[in-house]
Amino acid sequence: MGNQALSPSLGQRLARYHFLLRRLHSLSGIIPVGVFLAEHMLTNFGVVVGGPEKYNHDVGLIQTLPWLALVEWTLIFLPLAFHSLYGMFITFTGAVNLGDYRYGGNVRYVLQRAAGLFTFAFVIVHLLKYRFHYLIGGEHFNFLTGDAYRITAAGLHGSWTVAFYAVGVVAAVYHFSNGIWTALITWGVTLGHKSRRKAGLLCAVIGIVLSVLGLTSIYWFHRGL
Ligand code: HEM
Repeated sequence: MGNQALSPSLGQRLARYHFLLRRLHSLSGIIPVGVFLAEHMLTNFGVVVGGPEKYNHDVGLIQTLPWLALVEWTLIFLPLAFHSLYGMFITFTGAVNLGDYRYGGNVRYVLQRAAGLFTFAFVIVHLLKYRFHYLIGGEHFNFLTGDAYRITAAGLHGSWTVAFYAVGVVAAVYHFSNGIWTALITWGVTLGHKSRRKAGLLCAVIGIVLSVLGLTSIYWFHRGL
């Protein structure tokens, strides 16, 4: 009896564990995964403002970063895998109680989860197409050879692929920008109705800007030179 009073119950321990995972999930969605998404949209948009030369140059710079594989795994793949898997747990168990989130509307609550699931499928296809192509026996290529533009454009030639990419980019960007809004609530930054409205406007602007960058780049690659 004395021991029970001193040590936290299993339920309390699980709740604390869940709280920590929830915070890590929220953080990982913004840093590093969200920051990477924004950087990726900007790099791709290079093709629109500076043509294939700029795109090849910028991709070349990234490819020559020291410890690139380590950076990719620690700052992109592993955080994304954690965020995605825990996100699925949240989606399929309805495990999160974000308090005021419901006032943001049930539609956004459902869209956030649907967009997360679509983004997951999209990211897997995208990685198999351009990063882990050798796993599925694809053509051997290397973005270091100054061929990045040709390879990217060739991959976005078909209309169905373009449509899939357009929906995938919009889903990821919607999920991210709506996610910034919910994360500000999660971390107690926006407490009142007014600050949430202002944050909503800012997130909408972020979402629109990133969508325009992403969609224009897809179109540019698709239409080719
Ligand atoms: C481009 C990749 C992704 C980015 C940038 C991203 C970003 C974010 C952000 C910023 C949040 C808000 C966190 C918060 O409310 O505190 C969030 C929430 C969420 N994410 Fe992601 N995410 C990505 C991919 C995924 C994937 C693949 C899934 C898998 C289904 C997923 C599932 C979720 C779920 C379920 C939530 C809602 C949590 C809640 O309402 O409390 N996300 N995401």
